[in-house]
Amino acid sequence: MIFNFFLLFFILRSVLYIKVLAPMAGICNGDFALKLIPYGFDTVTLGGFNIDKLSIDAGSKIIKRGRKEFNIPYSKIISFIDDEASKVKNNSDAQVSVNLRSVNPDRIIEVSKLESVDIVEINCHCRQEELQRISCGQAMLERPDLKDYIKKVVDNSDAQVSVKIRGNVDDVDTLAISKLIDDAGADYLHVDAMKPGIFDADYDLISKISNNTNIFIIGNNSIDSLDKVHKILNAGADGFSIARAAINGKLNFDLNDI
Ligand SMILES: Cc1cc2nc3c(=O)[nH]c(=O)nc-3n(C[C@H](O)[C@H](O)[C@H](O)COP(=O)(O)O)c2cc1C
Repeated sequence: MIFNFFLLFFILRSVLYIKVLAPMAGICNGDFALKLIPYGFDTVTLGGFNIDKLSIDAGSKIIKRGRKEFNIPYSKIISFIDDEASKVKNNSDAQVSVNLRSVNPDRIIEVSKLESVDIVEINCHCRQEELQRISCGQAMLERPDLKDYIKKVVDNSDAQVSVKIRGNVDDVDTLAISKLIDDAGADYLHVDAMKPGIFDADYDLISKISNNTNIFIIGNNSIDSLDKVHKILNAGADGFSIARAAINGKLNFDLNDI
């Protein structure tokens, strides 16, 4: 009886967790995602995309100093996202998530109305100075209205809602923020469990969040082997995501094997 329970638990878990291509600005578009899906990703994140006037302006400044961005004019960005997401939907079975940078929630709600988009992901992660100066990206973690922002998206979105955060940011209590995101009703918490100066995830942080919230956790950072996939899932993540190990459009291990 107990043996059957554990067997069922492990079977269900292996069916329910998700394998996510993480966002990379200027890189993760429809064509790039389609190259990676055969390695076993069942969810791909496109973007990050700057979608309101302030973040688009910040994106132009970032490009000027030589960093890659998808910086599309305000009037064309929503149809650009639709085209890229549709490319994935028309050529694969993968779920499409879009990582969005916006000072206010209304533009994110607008993107959620696209039929091609399964998940809108609120970017509380990027640390470029230009984005943080307008209270976007990582600076979202310190906004007093963060819970209201997320709640407004959750209450009005036609897509599922993910929130991507950077963990272990100075002066930010990652567990308290995770609980806030859970309370606001988001479907996913996508955590970059980075440990400053170390190429490995903070597995203890993932466990702490898992033990103290009920939200679906996508664990991220430094996954470049199946061993690390198992480590982050064993720490309590319900899914995992990969960016840099896929940056060249291939993966040197196969996610279909898990
Ligand atoms: C070139 C590049 C661009 C990135 N752009 C974004 C972005 O726009 N939005 C975001 O949330 N994360 C972005 N990230 C962070 C990744 O999604 C991921 O959290 C981080 O690289 C750690 O995961 P990894 O160790 O698998 O690379 C970017 C990472 C890289 C390398």
